[in-house]
Amino acid sequence: MSTFSAQDFNAQRYFSVRPTYPDSFYNVLNAYHKGPQELVVDVGCGPGTATFQLSEQLDSFQRVIGTDLSPTMIESARSFQKQDPQKYSRISFEQSPAESFEFLKTCSNKQKCDMVTAVECVHWFNFAKFQESVANTLRPGGTLAIWGYGDFFFPDYPLLTAEIDKLSYADDKLGPYWQQPGRRIACEMLKELHFDSKWFQDVEEVYFYEDDLKDKNPGDIPLFMYQKLTLAQLKEYIKSWSGHHSWKKDNPNAEKDITDAFVERAIELYPQLNEKSELQITWRTFWMFARRRH
Ligand SMILES: C[S@@+](CC[C@H](N)C(=O)[O-])C[C@H]1O[C@@H](n2cnc3c(N)ncnc32)[C@H](O)[C@@H]1O
Repeated sequence: MSTFSAQDFNAQRYFSVRPTYPDSFYNVLNAYHKGPQELVVDVGCGPGTATFQLSEQLDSFQRVIGTDLSPTMIESARSFQKQDPQKYSRISFEQSPAESFEFLKTCSNKQKCDMVTAVECVHWFNFAKFQESVANTLRPGGTLAIWGYGDFFFPDYPLLTAEIDKLSYADDKLGPYWQQPGRRIACEMLKELHFDSKWFQDVEEVYFYEDDLKDKNPGDIPLFMYQKLTLAQLKEYIKSWSGHHSWKKDNPNAEKDITDAFVERAIELYPQLNEKSELQITWRTFWMFARRRH
C-alpha cells in the first residue's frame, strides 16, 4: 500500500489522531489465547498503535515484534519507543511484508510464534499468502488475531453520518482516491475473507454495527471504539487518511480543503455547532480469531 510508504506521508500525524483499541478488547484476546506466551508478532503495525498496547495489555508475553512494509511507519514506531526505552524494552520493530516472517531467522527469536496479530491492515494483504505464512510460523495451538474497524458514524448527529459517507465515497470527493480493493474490503470489515480450515480452527468472528446499540450498552461491547473530537480535530483525523493524502496531491491548489467544506456543511446542518464543538464518533468494528491446527 504505497501511500503509507510515501516519504511525505505524515506518520506522526497518523499516530497522534488514529484510534486505539480498548482494554476490554485485550481481555477478550487474552482469554482466547491458550498456552505459552513467548512471542507475539504484530504485522502491519504502522506506527505501533496496537504493538505498544499489546506489550502493556498482554504483559506476560516476553517479546513483542511489530513489522510493517513502510520504512516511514517503522521509523515513527522506533522514535516513539525511544521516548521510554525501559517501558518498551520487550518490543522491537522490523521492516517486513506481512506475508513473510523471514526476519525471525535473523533475530534471536528462532522459536515459532505464539501469536500473530494483524490490526486494521489485512485489507491490503495477499490474504492467501499471509495465511499460509502465518500457518508456517505459528506454533500448533497459537493464535491468529485479526481486528479493526470500518467507517465511523455520529450517534448524536445522524445527518453527519450521511455527510461523512459522501465525503468518503462520492465520485467528486474522496471516492476515486482510495486504493482498491483494499478500501472496500476494509469498510466491509473483511466480510469476504475467511480462515482456511486446512490450517485454522476454533474460529471466532464478531462484528459491531450501530444497530447493536439498540439492545446493548457500549460497556457490553468489548471492541467499542469511540472518540470525542472537536470538528477541528475531526479535520485532522480525515487528513490522516491515505485517500485524503492522494486527493491533496491531485488538488494542490484547491481553494478550500475538502475537510473545510465538510465542516461548513456540518454547521449548515446543525447550526448549534462550531469548529470547537466536541462530537462523539463511533466506529463499526470486528475481530476474527483462530487457532493453528495441531
Ligand atoms: C491502517 S494502518 C494500521 C496500523 C496499525 N496496525 C493500527 O492498528 O493502527 C495499515 C498499515 O499496514 C501496512 N501495510 C499495508 N500492506 C502491508 C503488507 N503487505 N505488509 C506489511 N504491512 C503492510 C501499511 O504500511 C500501514 O502501516
